Parts: sequence; C-alpha cells; structure tokens
Amino acid sequence: MRTAPQKFGDERQERVDRPDHLVISEHPVFRRFWYAACLARSLGDEPVALTVLGTPLVLWRPSADAPASAALDRCAHRDAPLSRGWIANCHLVCPYHGWEWDGAGRTRRIPQFPDAPHPTKSGLTMVATRERYGMVWVCLADDPIVDIPPLPEYDDPAWRVVPEYEFDFACTAPHLLENNFDPAHIAFVHRNTFGNPDRAELADTTVTREPYGLRSCGQVSVESRPGETGATTRTTVSDLYAPFFARIHIAYPDGLRHLMIKAITPVDDERCRLVQIVLRTDTEQDRPAADILAFDIAVETEDRALLELLPTPFPLARHLNAHARADRNSLAIRRLWTDLVTGRWVPS
Ligand code: FES
Ligand SMILES: [Fe+2]
Repeated sequence: MRTAPQKFGDERQERVDRPDHLVISEHPVFRRFWYAACLARSLGDEPVALTVLGTPLVLWRPSADAPASAALDRCAHRDAPLSRGWIANCHLVCPYHGWEWDGAGRTRRIPQFPDAPHPTKSGLTMVATRERYGMVWVCLADDPIVDIPPLPEYDDPAWRVVPEYEFDFACTAPHLLENNFDPAHIAFVHRNTFGNPDRAELADTTVTREPYGLRSCGQVSVESRPGETGATTRTTVSDLYAPFFARIHIAYPDGLRHLMIKAITPVDDERCRLVQIVLRTDTEQDRPAADILAFDIAVETEDRALLELLPTPFPLARHLNAHARADRNSLAIRRLWTDLVTGRWVPS
C-alpha cells in the first residue's frame, strides 16, 4: 500500500525513488548518452549554436574536410557567444576580441599581442563529438554509458539512405519519443496524411525489454505510404535505444522495407530536436527521395501541432493518466525511464 509521505524530506525522497514526472535536468544520467545535435551537412563554413540538455554549444567545422568540433558556447575571455563568431584560417574566431582556436579548442592567436604567451584557461571547453550516419553526435559527459546506437543498414548496399531533416519541437523529448511508439494516434493526428479515424482498431503490440531499451512489434493499417495512395498494412519492429533514440522498421506486404531513424535530442526541459534519416530497400526510381521527404515533413508537422499542446513536465507515474489496451508501448517506456532515472536499470 502506498502511504502518504509524512514530511517534506520524505516527499523529496519519494520523488527520487519513483518520480511522478520526468524532468530531464533533474537527472545527471541523461548527460551520459550521445545525442544527435544536427545533420553533418548542416555544419558549413559558419559556427552553429545548438543547445543540448540546457547547455548552449557552438559546433563548427574548422575546414570543409575536417571533423566537426563542439565546445561550450562561451568565450573564456569575456563570455561572448562563440557561435556568433566565424571561421578563418581553420580557426574559430571570437566575435568580441578576435581570439582564435583550432578544432581541438587550443588557443592559436590572441591578436592584440600575438607574441605574448596565451593565458591559462584561454582554451575552449570542448564537448565530445562523433560523426555517424550523416549526423553530428555530442556527449556532455566523459563517461557515456553506451555507444551511439548501431545502424548496420547504413553501410549495407541493400539499403539506400534518404537524408531528411532536423525538426525542432516545443515539446519534451519524452513526449516526442512516446508519440513515435503510439499506434493509436495515427488514425486521428494523421487523418489528413496516412490515418483514417474510421479504421482506428488496432492489434496488440508485443513489447520486450532489451539490454539497450525495448522493442515493440505490431501491425497497423494505414491509408497510404510516402508518395503513393492506397491502403496498406505496416508491420513494424520499433526499437527504443535509451533514452530517446528510435529505429522504426516498417515492412510492407509487397516486400518494401522502410527504416525510420529518429534521433531525439533534449534541447532543455521544454523542447527537443528530432534529427531524422530514412533508409529504404527500393530505389530512387521506384520512389523519389523528394516524395518521402514531403510525406515525412507533413506527418512531422501534424505531430508537432498536437505535441506542442501537451502540458509539461512529462508524466511518468501511472496514476497521472488513464491507460487503455493500446498503451502497452507507452506504459513500458514510462517504466523504462523510471527505472533509468532511479538507477534500477542501466542500458548496455
Ligand atoms: S570575449 Fe572572446 S575574445 Fe574577448
Ligand atoms: Fe505521429
């Protein structure tokens, strides 16, 4: 039986043991994951400002063929935002007094007295970066719990890559992730694209906890698929890699396979960013990438319009909402996040 906490200290302990809501900034564990900050192609010849887990970052590419770099977006000299600077001679240049750094964050030039020794602490506070799957990944901690999720299809010639987009949502990362594992919303939120409110019935999904997160398998009737008309059935295997990375494998009856990669990055406690690519087993001649992109932007826009109406913070505790048979995925995901933030479960 659940008893009411007796005093403030007990209430606080209860929130830590089994929090009612998921407020990402309250849990340092979220810093120990890799997040996709942007598409690799988005880093051109200008520095870019991006916030991850409430931490403003500057990302840049010192030269066209150099790997991406990331640092805290704050100059050690007088706190100017480095993302408002520029790149010159492979160096990031601060917009305030023109100090320069290389791609490893080492101070390379202080233009007022170029021959003077560089002060200690003048270097940038770097953030770990990787480039994988056409995305730039960052990790704010020195000790990530797991690597960037695997995606063997990316290098498999049986699959083609459809690079998609970065999509910014004024909703929390858990709200967006949960939405992508929620088959019940398709008939309604997506009634103008591939859903049909008159065909809302669902089959049960099977959900299993996996070392990396969880897997949900199911089938859902849809009215169309990208660039095509005509009702069909999606057979889906959806993997959640903790905390917010989804790979949604869709098989259609004619053998076409469509893999959505949804890397969801918490911007802060109220906002998130989706970095998405798609992989398909057909060809550009079969279905132009432009059709797939247009379809997915329309679908994403429908989800965003709804998700941005939802209150924050994200509810974790079961008693905060009503749950129906179609919510198996959602309940399993909420349990997973509860176990993660309470230390009962660690992905591997
Ligand atoms: S604030 Fe950046 S060089 Fe002075
Ligand atoms: Fe959706």
